[in-house]
Amino acid sequence: MTIDEIKIGGMGASRRRVEDNRFIRGRGNYVDDVVLPGMLHMEILRSPLAHARIRSIDVSKAWEIPGVRLVLTGDMMATRNLAWMPTLSYDTQAVLATDKVRFQGQEVAAVIADDPYIAKDACEAIVVDYEPLPVIVNPMQAMADSAPLIRDDKENQPDNKVFDWEVGDREATERAFAEADVVSKLELHYPRSHPSPLEPCGSIADFDRSTGKLTVYMTTQAPHIIRAAVALVAELPEHMIRIISPDLGGGFGNKVPVYPGYVISILASILTERPVKWIEDKTGNLISTGFGRDVYLQGEMALRKDGRILGVRMHTISDHGAFFSDAQPSKFKIGLMHSAFACYDIPSAHLTATGMYTNKAPGGVAYRCSFRVTEAMFFQERMVQAAADDLGMDQAEFRRVNFVRDDDFPHRTAFGFLTDSGQYGKCLDVGLEAIGYEQFLKDQEEARKKGRLLGIGISTMTEPLGAGNSREYDILGIKMFDSAELRVHMTGKAILRTGAKTQGQGHETTWAQIVAHELGIPADDIVVEEGDTDTAPFGMGTYASRSTPVAGAAVAMVSRKIRAKARKIAAHLLEVSEEDVEWELGRFYVRSQPDRGVTIQDCSMAAYSNVPDGMEPGLENTAYYDPPNLTWPFACYIATVEVDPETGVWDVLRMVAVDDCGVRINPMIVEGQIMGGLTEAYAMASMQFITFDADGNCVGSNYMDYLLPTAWETPGFELHEVVTPCPHHPIGAKGIGECATVGGPAAFVNAVMDAVKHLGVRNVDMPMLPDRVHQAVTTGSDVSGMPPVRTDAP
Ligand code: CDP
Repeated sequence: MTIDEIKIGGMGASRRRVEDNRFIRGRGNYVDDVVLPGMLHMEILRSPLAHARIRSIDVSKAWEIPGVRLVLTGDMMATRNLAWMPTLSYDTQAVLATDKVRFQGQEVAAVIADDPYIAKDACEAIVVDYEPLPVIVNPMQAMADSAPLIRDDKENQPDNKVFDWEVGDREATERAFAEADVVSKLELHYPRSHPSPLEPCGSIADFDRSTGKLTVYMTTQAPHIIRAAVALVAELPEHMIRIISPDLGGGFGNKVPVYPGYVISILASILTERPVKWIEDKTGNLISTGFGRDVYLQGEMALRKDGRILGVRMHTISDHGAFFSDAQPSKFKIGLMHSAFACYDIPSAHLTATGMYTNKAPGGVAYRCSFRVTEAMFFQERMVQAAADDLGMDQAEFRRVNFVRDDDFPHRTAFGFLTDSGQYGKCLDVGLEAIGYEQFLKDQEEARKKGRLLGIGISTMTEPLGAGNSREYDILGIKMFDSAELRVHMTGKAILRTGAKTQGQGHETTWAQIVAHELGIPADDIVVEEGDTDTAPFGMGTYASRSTPVAGAAVAMVSRKIRAKARKIAAHLLEVSEEDVEWELGRFYVRSQPDRGVTIQDCSMAAYSNVPDGMEPGLENTAYYDPPNLTWPFACYIATVEVDPETGVWDVLRMVAVDDCGVRINPMIVEGQIMGGLTEAYAMASMQFITFDADGNCVGSNYMDYLLPTAWETPGFELHEVVTPCPHHPIGAKGIGECATVGGPAAFVNAVMDAVKHLGVRNVDMPMLPDRVHQAVTTGSDVSGMPPVRTDAP
């Protein structure tokens, strides 16, 4: 009997998330839930100042507090060569400050005590004598000749520059601009934002001197990379390090970098010979861990009168904070910023990028994003709207004229990426139809006559998801591929492990669906495990929506290896040659006699009890998958808004999303990913404001100031789909996790700009707070979000 794939929870089944059984019952097992015998607690003392020389640190009073077991300063870390650590971008970062503090919230000392409250009290007893220094809060200030040098710890660092980088064809682009009928320009700031996962970062280090083994429970999205980093930094043998990343309460890129707290807890455990737990509080997370974005983008577009784009020039100035510590492929200094304009057929493009140090916490982490594609796509879609306006052309039509056509794949972009599939025009059409585009334009016209400000914003984009391949993509030279190990037990139940690490995306559910699709084993019979470096095969972890494109592909490939062995066993059981054996989901049968067959479960039983002569028993295997290309999902997001000219408040009237992420493994989970992503996009566009005053104080260091939208504020989303299978992925899937966060913000901003452009406004930087929009409406001019600079400062 043919198996119904949806019934067994295979591909395309909106199977309920199995992990939610424990999450909604409060049975999740997060780092802070782990309690080890004899465990001590660590608290970190952070700098109140953004830039200051440390004259002295007096820890004597802290040591006097009963229950204090250890007080660590940078000087003590230095005796172990651990005061500084390498970052994932070939820079160095202070673990505990020795010479200077370089941002507010930087780690200055740590106390390890019997409980966290004693440790916190003891931190307050530490006296640090600071000599304040001039503060730099934006990269333009950092470029000034008279700017103080932030990284005076580094040899050969005469200024505050992190890098200069360029890509594209300068000469061809110049020629395009010489031929242009119209040149359109745009400048904007993509503000700092914080991924702010529900669970902050933390670790429990447990060094066992008797075995020499170090076990660390850690909030990390990439346990194997962390194992390698710990081996290098702490000079411990890699096989004696076990990183366990248990349930994570969200990550969004925030849990990729290596944080000082992890390193300090490890040294503290080695010194005290006790497990040491460190859990940061929310403010600690907001002010000191990896921020996203903070890029100033300038661009120009060379246009022909008929609407064709001839060339694009872009320049970015990024604010990296005090240490260049975001993870990105070593070839690409500003991440995948040059993926901008990939869905448009543009003959030439040139990008220059400058990265600067400032007195802020490290920035540039890829917040629900593949290495800066969020900034790239935001700029792209803001620029496209500005160009359409400058040409006096309909914004939908301008996109359609310039899209890469369906029959033009594979397509080499002007920046050198190879896009391989998509139906861009179709997605746009579905979106326009759903929102009622033509009718809205009429309504907008009528409303404007009555003084009402309606706007419609479109954002269309393809983005590169799923780093590797290993030829192009690496972190610290570690090549980007991924893995899966599948063990099918005697009774046909199975355990699957991958090198990825879910943070709430539902891998436990969807990976089992891929196995079910490939082998016909019901998804409920497969348990999925991730995050333990002692048991999971090596992998690069989960970020950049790489799980499905890379680890998900490995799951399909390992299942096929299992099927290939099971086929031999089936031939043996059916007493025919392998060539005479056919496969249908969950069952092998004899070609000439379809009724004579054996199930995959029959084969797994035989794998342990009745294998053909000369065959190794067992039914397990591992696959490492190095993708030939990134996957290129496409999205079309369209928002309509009404702006209140009296208050600057803008309401979302409707939001339509059309996503093409190739074959959908679990449609319900995909829709959840899109809704979550659009919520974050709306948050960034409307309310998330985390900035710095002229003295480098972080404004937005708590959730009264830095706002996360609740269901009350979040608009409704109307979701639609188009499916263009990925040509190289074994099951045709493309990534989806970050599409809506990446593409969503421009739809909201374009909509508000569309509502006010007739007043002479071209750009209001995010977040589009009511006062900014009100200022734009009343003055008819742009509003910049650049943080203030002290006029008396250099
Ligand atoms: O890397 P990350 O897990 O964040 O992102 P992803 O690979 O885009 O996957 C997010 C979730 O959506 C996972 O549970 C995927 O298995 C699921 N997904 C899907 O069901 N179908 C797709 N075509 C892509 C993702």
